[in-house]
Amino acid sequence: MKIGIVGAGQVGASAAYAVALLGSAREIVLIDLDPALAAAQAEDISHATPFGSATDIRAGEYADLTGAEVIIIAAGVSQKPRETRLDLLARNAEVFRIVTGEVLNHAPDAILLIASNPVDIMTGITVRLTGLPAHRVIGSGTILDTARFRVLLGQHLDVDPRSVHAYVLGEHGDSEVLSWSSAAVGASIFGDVALARGKPVTEDVRARIDVGVRRAAYRIIEGKGATYYGIGAGLARLVAAIGGDERSVHSVSIMTPEIEGVRDVPLSLPRILGKGGVLGDVMPEISAEERLALKASAQMLKDTLDAVHV
Ligand code: 2OP
Repeated sequence: MKIGIVGAGQVGASAAYAVALLGSAREIVLIDLDPALAAAQAEDISHATPFGSATDIRAGEYADLTGAEVIIIAAGVSQKPRETRLDLLARNAEVFRIVTGEVLNHAPDAILLIASNPVDIMTGITVRLTGLPAHRVIGSGTILDTARFRVLLGQHLDVDPRSVHAYVLGEHGDSEVLSWSSAAVGASIFGDVALARGKPVTEDVRARIDVGVRRAAYRIIEGKGATYYGIGAGLARLVAAIGGDERSVHSVSIMTPEIEGVRDVPLSLPRILGKGGVLGDVMPEISAEERLALKASAQMLKDTLDAVHV
């Protein structure tokens, strides 16, 4: 499978690196406004392929996207001093207008994977700009928050995070909802296993893990300026799921017709991914408290998207 990545900064390059190591695609075209950056990243990552998989990676132009099945969009501008979040969104929307126009010109049937922040809003904006159906415009959403949740739950029980089944729903951001009520280890309720193993989920444990997930990006950005390895691996996993028509379940963001009474809102739920993009949802049973929090998250995202004029 051939994929394209637009934006060769840390997130785009980490995604390319993870795709090359995992072997999620056969061919990667890396595009950036700065062609020298794209060329350098592609050359550097190509030197990892003898240790990873038979992946051809090269820098290119939009015309080189012909035949690409998945395009990761990790482009965007960052916030200027005194700029509001909505100003930033409007500027990023203009960047996306150009990028998506070029991308669809050369790869009209591609699935778009949106990674630029605020990712839910950028996903909604992309649907508006392109007119593509919701299942083909997929934001990385809470894939990373879900991973963070599973890592911390796994550490608490000393269990492989891949055997922990738990989801973060709603916004990729402050209003996200950690669904404790539906968390499981193997096929057992997380809280029951924790109790049986002598590690009950006390209020303290819950608060520590909640902060651990919710504040992860802030802590990492404080320490090193940006987050990129986790999201890079997550994007590579989504590429594999789509390209391999896996029908595996991931918490990703798409325009959602209705959730908790809120209509037409971009947010994350566990969804089945395969060749056509999102093939269906797998909404877990969640507690009344989590449903209220999900409604609030959805309403906040809807209000924000409605305030952006593109
Ligand atoms: C993250 O959560 C900043 O969205 C980025 O790591």
